[in-house]
Amino acid sequence: MHPADMSLNRDSQEPAHGAPWEPLDQPIDRPPDLRSRTLTSRTRTARGRRRIPVFLLCAVVGLVVLVWSRSSAARKPRGAKGTLLSSSSYPFTPPDDPLPVHHLESLMLYHNTPVARSRPPPTQFLLDPRADLSKPVVALITATNNPRDVMRETATTLFGQSLQNFVWVIVDDHTTEPGSRDLLDELARDPRVVVVKNERDMGLAVSRNVALDWVFEHYDPPPKYLVSLDDDDLFEYTALEKTCWMLESNPEWDIGGFRYVKWGASNETVVTGLHSGRSNWSKGNFVPNAAVYTSRALQLSGCRYNEEEFHDGGEDWDFWMCLADAGLWGGTILEPLYWYRVNDPTFRTKRWGNTFVDGFEQLKRHIWRKHPTLDKAFPVMKPKRNIQLEPVAWEPPFEQALARTDKQIMFILPWLYMGGADIGALHMIQLYALAGYRVTVVCTLSKVPEGIELRPFALQYTHDIHILPTFLRMHDFPRYIKHLVDSRGIRQVILSNSQLAYEMLPALVEQMPDVEWIDYLHNEAYDGWKSGGYPRYSIIMQRYLARSITCSHYLRGWLVDNGHLDANRIGVVKLGIEASEFKPATPAARNAAKATLLSVEPETFVIVVVGRLDPQKRSTLIPLIVEELIRRTETDFLVVMLGEGPMRRQLEAAIAAASLGDFVRLLGTHNDLSGYYAAADMFLLPSMSEGISIAVAEAMASGLPIVTARAGALPEQLGELDAAGNKVHDANELGGILVDHELDTVHDPVHYADAVEKLMLDPGLRARLGRNARRLVEDGFDWRTTLSGLFVETARAKNLLGHVTGDTRYPLPAAYLSTQMVLAEMWKETDMRGYYP
Ligand SMILES: *[C@@H]1O[C@H](CO)[C@@H](O)[C@H](O)[C@H]1NC(C)=O
Ligand SMILES: *[C@@H]1O[C@H](CO)[C@@H](O)[C@H](O)[C@H]1NC(C)=O
Repeated sequence: MHPADMSLNRDSQEPAHGAPWEPLDQPIDRPPDLRSRTLTSRTRTARGRRRIPVFLLCAVVGLVVLVWSRSSAARKPRGAKGTLLSSSSYPFTPPDDPLPVHHLESLMLYHNTPVARSRPPPTQFLLDPRADLSKPVVALITATNNPRDVMRETATTLFGQSLQNFVWVIVDDHTTEPGSRDLLDELARDPRVVVVKNERDMGLAVSRNVALDWVFEHYDPPPKYLVSLDDDDLFEYTALEKTCWMLESNPEWDIGGFRYVKWGASNETVVTGLHSGRSNWSKGNFVPNAAVYTSRALQLSGCRYNEEEFHDGGEDWDFWMCLADAGLWGGTILEPLYWYRVNDPTFRTKRWGNTFVDGFEQLKRHIWRKHPTLDKAFPVMKPKRNIQLEPVAWEPPFEQALARTDKQIMFILPWLYMGGADIGALHMIQLYALAGYRVTVVCTLSKVPEGIELRPFALQYTHDIHILPTFLRMHDFPRYIKHLVDSRGIRQVILSNSQLAYEMLPALVEQMPDVEWIDYLHNEAYDGWKSGGYPRYSIIMQRYLARSITCSHYLRGWLVDNGHLDANRIGVVKLGIEASEFKPATPAARNAAKATLLSVEPETFVIVVVGRLDPQKRSTLIPLIVEELIRRTETDFLVVMLGEGPMRRQLEAAIAAASLGDFVRLLGTHNDLSGYYAAADMFLLPSMSEGISIAVAEAMASGLPIVTARAGALPEQLGELDAAGNKVHDANELGGILVDHELDTVHDPVHYADAVEKLMLDPGLRARLGRNARRLVEDGFDWRTTLSGLFVETARAKNLLGHVTGDTRYPLPAAYLSTQMVLAEMWKETDMRGYYP
């Protein structure tokens, strides 16, 4: 569907059958006004909490009155897989003005909570109207007293979870205010909510125990997972799903935590957690209060919230330490998945009395006395290593009750670097989200922090981002991917640059034969890596791919030349850049940039080179080109090289050896190159080959004439070839000069120096080619235009007949891979040519 087709009319939104709760229509985006808070359960203690002897606790349960409003309609048996809700009835529209959700404390925007208007709406995940809710996976327990309006936000992030199969037991600890009562009645309309009323004010810990007892009484077996949730805190929308899966994947664990964000009266990103256990348990409670724990742990240990001894607070800490005493512990997802609202100090004093003013030392001593053996016997539970492979299972551990919708797409990527390919993926995510799709992103590798640099930006368009190694052991990756596909109703997956995804394809197709797996290819590997890299994998796996999409006609040709059997199954969609972010510099701006950034005169001819310092970019050719230019011209010039890479030392040595220091500067990597483009007179890139080069595109958008190789996709990028790959433009209409290189170090410096000198001597030519360059990008290289081709190309995707059972016309990947591996490692012993004299 084209973005223009999405008529997203919020008014047409019907409530889900059996799910009367509607998420906040107008999410609250600014930090809530802390002064206007009413009292909640947290503040109640100060009004005189009564201690209740343990023997009375049992009686308390008898006093509760149940408001049990589960609708019978919601108990209908689960419908056949494949029933999809229409996205137009349940629209999902990302915000106009999204903000990134950073994971680093220094970059975190503390008002950008899960319900902020600057985040995607809470309608990304919906309850399957036909789900069987009689066996919830998670029971959440919340004690509340006269809840404030912010409890709606808590409810919104809970009802918006990707794991919809839960029961929420709210113990109403004697709410008296009419507004609060209405709120609770409203919540109780959801089939998953149970409101248990205490007939009198019994306190936080007792109320939580009431909820736990309720859960154990009403379910046999009890829900596998339990969470104690405060009535004003927020979850990220995938928190329950990821944490429960982490516990499934690490079955020796009983508590699943996460990083969390404290916001409100003070702001902080908390990075300690269950993993800090052994050395730090005695310094304070760092288990997030909404951590997920198993009902098994409670049955084994008998632990409950201890109201008796911790009436001034600290019962959470004691609870976790009780589990630790029983040898039960767990681990942390190193991703902030929970928002803890910090009340202002007067509130805290009311809630905690003097505990945190002068009583914390006392509480600490109390905890130590109560748990004397933990110092020596604290359970330590690092995740097990992946190295011992366990069998791969496919059945999900539980049913999520998540609705499938008809506009879902999944991307499988290795990770989210700030590189060209990944920014391309980010643009695709954005494009699909803006067209009303619910986008799921899976990363199969994790490298912190570089590998998740783009995560905050992807979170602007989808809540559904899963970096698998941060919470799953590897043998669960295939099962989790299947689970994502099945639970969301995903029918198309775009994979890009993920070796694991390619290698899993035969298995994934076997498990999910109706899904269309489509790959997006940037360029072949030039150094022989994997006989060409991802495009080689694409050829090997062609039987399983419903379509391949390349970012250039050149690469499409490469696939066909290298063993792809059907050019009609390959489409071309260019990546594009954000053209509006670049503009040609005026002569005055150019002179100013030369002076401020490079301290050179306006007359100095500045050549900018952008790219990794590596063999593919032929970085060491630059000093040779410079020497050749010095030989033939009087013009003062300077080459500015931006980028880092393995050839830096070699390059520095070459520059020093030939005394070229006045002519070449190595300036390393910069995030914002616009200043350098403004200071430059031309752009040079003598690569061996390139796919579509983002650096070249940005230089073109900055109105710079380009000198580069007639290789790879560069001719089509400079305008020599049209969309069909035919030659359309002559040299005067290109965005620069294409050099026919010979890939040597004797002739190529001369060829490049010829081209550079031509531009150096002819300002008119520079201006003309620069104008062409800018126009080529404006007309055909803005990502919003180029990437919309994706909708056309993915619509053409079609699984081969017999792609599961095997179509003998197409190579069998297993055989292909095995021969490829042997050839790579022992070609002499297996290849005829290896024996030739
Ligand atoms: C916490 O962050 C919010 C939102 O960014 C801000 O309004 C508030 O002033 C911050 N609070 C403190 C104590 O810095
Ligand atoms: C434990 O505490 C020490 C200092 O008290 C701190 O340096 C360390 O990072 C903590 N360990 C963990 C795993 O949080």
